[in-house]
Amino acid sequence: MKKLNGISKINIAVFISGRGSNLKNLIKYSFADNSKFKIALIITDNSKALGLKFAKKFHIKKKIVNFDKTNLVEKNLIIVLKKYKIKIICLAGFMRILSNKFIKNFNGKILNIHPSLLPKYKGLNTHLRAIKNKDEYSGCTVHFVNSKLDSGKIILQKKVKIFKKDTPKSLASRILTQEHAIYPKAVKKIISNL
Ligand code: GRF
Repeated sequence: MKKLNGISKINIAVFISGRGSNLKNLIKYSFADNSKFKIALIITDNSKALGLKFAKKFHIKKKIVNFDKTNLVEKNLIIVLKKYKIKIICLAGFMRILSNKFIKNFNGKILNIHPSLLPKYKGLNTHLRAIKNKDEYSGCTVHFVNSKLDSGKIILQKKVKIFKKDTPKSLASRILTQEHAIYPKAVKKIISNL
């Protein structure tokens, strides 16, 4: 734990593959006066990820990792995570599945945000599937990561109403607002139980 302004902070690494709006939002929360965490590292599998601009903007260390060479890469990544004293990993639009070995070797918590009310709609195209099935609600879920896709224990969920006129895009945008509300809350909850 690092002491910043007299407050002990938990170091978090955020893994992204794209836009990085959840990353930006977590960074924003980490700057709040009473925040208990610091985003100490950004990891991506995509050198063109738009979210990497936040590493530059907020002076956060970043690493671009070639996850195709899984074994060696994950082994090295564990070393880097230890070096940065990372206690929690937040996956935020990270489009890779981490190996069971990595999950076990990282002696900490790994969280993910998923745009559906899990266990409904694991995987991709969640908004389209919810609309096609004429569901009344969709939403988002923060959960622990285990070896099965989008299947770990649920930490927080938020329901979002689906309107008749909704398209996957309009629904995604309303759900994203709720993602930004619940991810920092879930992180706080996990930290308070550490
Ligand atoms: C979010 O909808 C998240 O739930 C899903 O991927 C999207 C990532 O968005 N896993 P962003 O990169 O955080 O903007």
